[in-house]
Amino acid sequence: MSETVNPRYPSTEHLRLRARSRLPRFAFEYLDGGCFSEVNLKRNTDELRSIELKPRYLREHAGSSLQTELFGHVYDAPFGIAPIGLQGLVWPRSCEILARSAFKQNIPFILSTVTTASIETIAEITEGRSWFQLYHPTKEDLRNKLLDRAEDAGLSVLVLLADTPSFAYRPKEIRNGLSIPPRMSMRNIGQMLLHPAWLFSQLENGIPSFATMRPYLPKRVNLKHLGDFMDKNFSGRLTPDKIKSIRDRWKGKLIVKGIVTEEDAETALDIGVDGFIVSNHGGRQLDAGQSTIRALPKLARNFGSKTTVMMDSGIRSGPDIACALASGADFTFLGRSFMYGVSALGRDGGDHTASMLKRQLQQVMEQLSCERVEDLPQHLIQN
Ligand SMILES: Cc1cc2nc3c(=O)[nH]c(=O)nc-3n(C[C@H](O)[C@H](O)[C@H](O)COP(=O)(O)O)c2cc1C
Repeated sequence: MSETVNPRYPSTEHLRLRARSRLPRFAFEYLDGGCFSEVNLKRNTDELRSIELKPRYLREHAGSSLQTELFGHVYDAPFGIAPIGLQGLVWPRSCEILARSAFKQNIPFILSTVTTASIETIAEITEGRSWFQLYHPTKEDLRNKLLDRAEDAGLSVLVLLADTPSFAYRPKEIRNGLSIPPRMSMRNIGQMLLHPAWLFSQLENGIPSFATMRPYLPKRVNLKHLGDFMDKNFSGRLTPDKIKSIRDRWKGKLIVKGIVTEEDAETALDIGVDGFIVSNHGGRQLDAGQSTIRALPKLARNFGSKTTVMMDSGIRSGPDIACALASGADFTFLGRSFMYGVSALGRDGGDHTASMLKRQLQQVMEQLSCERVEDLPQHLIQN
């Protein structure tokens, strides 16, 4: 397999730097930042990179394959695109661009409830293959409407978010006035004017809005009303009863995202979920929290034979993906890396990022003499 990669951006760090120069500061910091002092954000990648892998040079090797079966579909790589809210604010149409790339590259795409393209649009782009991440509505009626729409659109994997019981404390967003409604300060307006490619693209594509929520918003809604509406109608706190009630109703696969403890994994599995994503929201919620690569091995050991254990947070490269899989994950997701890619390269950013990651992971597996993704744990050096 040979993946073509724009040689000017061979790593996520190159894409990140390009994204930083193209986006107004408030948009870049919304994407890039974490909560409080960003300890958890940094820990995720740092600790992932302390993992060591051993090669097996002196043996027959028929070539490495990245193909991975997950929930009845064979994907071309063991990674997918994590759900990101308000994507259109970071780069216009980035949600649609990434969904299109995911479909073309045969990797999963998870649509956030609070992003800027609707369930129906993304289902059409991905021919029903995208997954849907539900922010839990406070009222059952709204929850059921969203679940019915996801089912009618043909989506078969639903992701429930567990790790946002409270509104995050992110100093950069607070300083930038990035709230609902966003504060149009002179500083933010100045930043927009300094980034004409971003500004023109936004003007061309129209003001981003919560597309999936549009049918339920009051007519002639202004930004202030939008904030009130979201506050009143959503609660991030997931409880066993809420999961149970969705389990009874949702016929497709049900995943919980944000599991980092055995206790929560046990609770979710008892209710009958089909898998979980070990995630700390990319270091955006609990600064003193453990990195996901530290939380993963125990969870994989105790639950991996009973369910599908996936991981995100901190993954930026093919080697990072290999280390997560070697440590027990069945599959991985990346949030920021793909968004840096689109912010850096626009329409080509999704394909570029997916191809780059595939090529990097392929190299690592060939180097290790590892033929199949599921054999990566044999290459983990246990310290
Ligand atoms: C800007 C931003 C917005 C996010 N919005 C959501 C969201 O709407 N729903 C969700 O489940 N996770 C959301 N996440 C978390 C991601 O799905 C994912 O867990 C995280 O980005 C993984 O870490 P990484 O960015 O280091 O890859 C968001 C993350 C970022 C960076």
